[in-house]
Amino acid sequence: MTNVENKMLKDLISIYDSSNPATEAYRALRTNIMYKNFDAPIKVINITSATQGEGKSTTCLNLAVVFSQLNKKVLVMDLDLRIPTIHKKLRIRNTMGITDLLNGRATVDNVVKPVFKNIDVITTGTKIIYHSEFIQSTALMNFIERMKDEYDIILLDCPPVGIVTDALIVSKYSDGTILVCESDKNDKKTLIRVKYQFDEVESKVLGVVITKADFGKKYYSHYNYQYQPKARKRKKK
Ligand SMILES: Nc1ncnc2c1ncn2[C@@H]1O[C@H](COP(=O)(O)OP(=O)(O)O)[C@@H](O)[C@H]1O
Ligand SMILES: [Mg+2]
Repeated sequence: MTNVENKMLKDLISIYDSSNPATEAYRALRTNIMYKNFDAPIKVINITSATQGEGKSTTCLNLAVVFSQLNKKVLVMDLDLRIPTIHKKLRIRNTMGITDLLNGRATVDNVVKPVFKNIDVITTGTKIIYHSEFIQSTALMNFIERMKDEYDIILLDCPPVGIVTDALIVSKYSDGTILVCESDKNDKKTLIRVKYQFDEVESKVLGVVITKADFGKKYYSHYNYQYQPKARKRKKK
């Protein structure tokens, strides 16, 4: 039995509606990632955005679901230590997580939570002050390296790049970055700067995911909560 059985999780559309266009988009993203590099499979993926609230954690979890549906063993790690939300979206506890493991207060078995078939999650755990130091630690890097033997895909839910450099640091030990971008939220200059930051640290941007785009109500009509597009603003006459 998993930790989230029988819970209604509002952001996990790919669990509940496999034919929804949003789920199809997550599958397309999965395909793009899988065929991005034939020589060395992409295993560790860093998911970030320019600012908070653009859809990183939602993308991360739905991507985990569609990968798991191909029988891939997936590990989701919440590394957004400032505003952790993975546990909230899954409605699981965050008492033991990655900070506790690396501080020696917990074992791997204490922190790895199976949430769905083929998906394990590690939440952030006890709050710490020195986020960047933690993210940069060799201990974290070594742990992720070790997990590569146990999982086919490791998804790292990171803080936004615009605020702190943590996501850039994480990108050094990931095989690539997915940039989540809320439609109409950031100006072109910001996005070019973010892309430039990743180029600077020689991290491969695997793709850009545009969220909350307004395709018109009809497109989303059979999924009538969270994924409703934003209402169009009427032009004043
Ligand atoms: N593709 C999407 N379409 C519409 N709403 C979305 C999408 N992705 C996320 N959201 C919504 O946006 C809000 C922020 O998403 P979240 O994944 O928590 O952002 P982040 O992790 O970047 O802070 C949530 O209310 C979520 O339901
Ligand atoms: Mg988040």
